[in-house]
Amino acid sequence: MSKFPDNFLFGGAISACQAEGAWNEGGKSLTFPEIVKRVKKEDRTDFHKTTTITEKDIIEGKTGNPDNYPKRRGIDFFHSYKEDIRLLAEMGLRCFRFSISMARIFPNLTDEEPNEQALLVYDDIIREIRKNGMEPLVTMAHFDPPIAVYEKYGGYCNREMIDIFYRYSKVLLDRYHDEVKYWLPFNELNVGLNASFKALGIPYAEDEKYEQRKFQGLHNQMVASAKTVIYAHENYPDLQIGSMITHSLKYPYSPDPKDVIATDNYDHFRNYFFLDVTSYGYYPYYTIKYFKDHGIILDDCIEDYEILKKGTVDWIGFSYYNTSCVAFNDEGLDYSAGNYSRGVKNPKLGKDNGWGWQFDSLGFRISCNRLYDRYRKPLFILENGTGFEETMDEECRIHDPYRSDYLKMHLRSLRDAIDDGCQIIGYCWWGVIDLISSSTSEMSKRYGFIYVDQDDDGNGSKKRYLKDSYFEYQHIIRTNGEEL
Ligand code: BG6
Repeated sequence: MSKFPDNFLFGGAISACQAEGAWNEGGKSLTFPEIVKRVKKEDRTDFHKTTTITEKDIIEGKTGNPDNYPKRRGIDFFHSYKEDIRLLAEMGLRCFRFSISMARIFPNLTDEEPNEQALLVYDDIIREIRKNGMEPLVTMAHFDPPIAVYEKYGGYCNREMIDIFYRYSKVLLDRYHDEVKYWLPFNELNVGLNASFKALGIPYAEDEKYEQRKFQGLHNQMVASAKTVIYAHENYPDLQIGSMITHSLKYPYSPDPKDVIATDNYDHFRNYFFLDVTSYGYYPYYTIKYFKDHGIILDDCIEDYEILKKGTVDWIGFSYYNTSCVAFNDEGLDYSAGNYSRGVKNPKLGKDNGWGWQFDSLGFRISCNRLYDRYRKPLFILENGTGFEETMDEECRIHDPYRSDYLKMHLRSLRDAIDDGCQIIGYCWWGVIDLISSSTSEMSKRYGFIYVDQDDDGNGSKKRYLKDSYFEYQHIIRTNGEEL
């Protein structure tokens, strides 16, 4: 039977905008996720409501009551990180993925100097992670563009954002190259097409140029990412820089070749495009054709393509949550939900998590094989997990066998993928400590092995409690995944 490699990075992940809180401390500016209200329970699976922010929402959000915007409080990681990191280390984590907030380092984007006060906090976070024996993995931008990205530049679709991001990434690499080996410039690049405000700083609009703006924003991010890779490779050759998508694995709804072509098409534009560019270093034929057919003309230059060619990534990162189907004709078919992608409900899959995300652990093995086969670069699983609603009992315990089952099923599948021959660096459980949900801004969608006593409205002691699954993951890591 297959085994996990001895140095396999069993890990866990969080992001700044879902965990840090302290939204107006230390010189930080306001970010997009901090103007998003909680989605009502009855709208949890409404794709439009969870992915759309308009200009009107920005105006309202800037003046609204801060308590109504859950990502402003997060779980207060900004103040509790020492204790949180200790608990994560005691669980046995070998790797901890977290993100740095650009709004803390360059609150106005073009500030003359980076904000030293914020850097000192991140110095300490990284020190704590390493002191506790974990490998840090840093995301430079995790769905938290400062509002200034939109107000000053109209979003990442402005070419000036390439150098603004590049300057920021150089500050981080110069400061932390000795402590941090694994870097990710942008979280889940492909989400830019579905939730443009949080990935690209571009609010939803219905004009005919909206799509053009999104592709331009993605182009600029991919060029900025490639510049970051080149800088790291030239100056700090030991660093490993990756690229990431959320792998929305889709199956053809039927063997009808029309369903198969529709699925391939989905894969091209919603999955592969972003990794094709950042890993192969050039635009794929299908995008060039699509741009031509749809009148999308990028504001680009020859140098961009030289940069993309030179700045290809070292590893492929992805998140894996759920799967669904694609049908050429979806009339009368039910849809399943997902946070940033949705599809036709798979009649062969059963349970979902209460938010309409159908479980599919075997799909995880398929995902690994598809991505490894296509790119032949080491894979890094940057997010996997699922949210459940749960409460503590009178003894402050949380019995969560469903989470342990989910974890074990997915790790078995991952082990099978390794046995298939896929090279995999590590696996990060998403939301390793309860945090604010990205798509719905709920606290009650809990992912963590560690419970945070806080409800959707921010009430609660914020104290941390260990769930049963905490000890399960601890055992799995201790035994290097041999007892699954
Ligand atoms: C990923 C994001 O898309 O999905 C995370 O990178 C997010 O930030 C995770 O939290 C789960 O989604 P949600 O909406 O359930 O929090």
